[in-house]
Amino acid sequence: MRTLREIPPLREALNECRRRGQRVALVPTMGNLHDGHLALVAQARRRGDVVVATIFVNPLQFGAGEDLDAYPRTLAEDQAQLEAAGCDLLFAPATTAVYPRSLAAQTRVCVPEVSEGLCGGDRPGHFDGVATIVTMLFHLVQPDVACFGEKDYQQLAVIRRLVADLHVPVEIVGVPIVRAADGLALSSRNGYLDAAQRATAPALYRTLCTLRDALEAGADSDDTLADGLARLREAGFAPDYLELRTADLEPVTANTRDAVLLAAARLGPTRLIDNLSLTLPR
Ligand code: PAF
Repeated sequence: MRTLREIPPLREALNECRRRGQRVALVPTMGNLHDGHLALVAQARRRGDVVVATIFVNPLQFGAGEDLDAYPRTLAEDQAQLEAAGCDLLFAPATTAVYPRSLAAQTRVCVPEVSEGLCGGDRPGHFDGVATIVTMLFHLVQPDVACFGEKDYQQLAVIRRLVADLHVPVEIVGVPIVRAADGLALSSRNGYLDAAQRATAPALYRTLCTLRDALEAGADSDDTLADGLARLREAGFAPDYLELRTADLEPVTANTRDAVLLAAARLGPTRLIDNLSLTLPR
């Protein structure tokens, strides 16, 4: 696996792949890789001849007071994991290579509506930052296919919308959440949890499972969500949101069948997110 830090050698390497007619699969990450990321690489390996991963802790998607400085940077370990997973090229640029001017002067991509509410409500500007870096990576790598985790359900919806709206010629693949044995969705932020918080954390997934079962059995959604919030608070979480939406993140109606439960909740300073798809009864 080659690691490239600058844009010109990245373009050169990818031009060479395209001259050979190879199909390029992209896995964008912020590093500190775990088995969820490796599932993205495995999916990319199946769908492309050349797998390109990126590691870039994107300052544009962090708000004031968020964990940009504390975000774990583990490049050597990440390189070893990517290499073992069959990645061919790693692009790991410095911030100045990506954003040579000040962040305030940076052109941004804004994806309205689907970015609003849920995590977009709690983290203003977050999805503009994600949409901007992902659009930039699509231009730099020009992948045939790009893989993103379903844990960041709203992020995946934002990326699908930007690809549709800007006619970006890339296939977007969502990869199912990878969970620990106790149900906790894998996340780089799980590393912030102390032992007691880590023991509490799986209650987020367990609560979503309980609510899914109730909703699929026909329970009233307002009552079920109120019960869910109470369960999360009782377990020790400070919930940011718990919502039931259509699979496309629209408000549910009497006709909705394919739905998704989405939650964000804090344990101490750590914000965890999770989601669970379900089928509402007729
Ligand atoms: O999901 C992530 O790790 C990031 O939001 C992404 C898509 C790599 C953009 O920085």
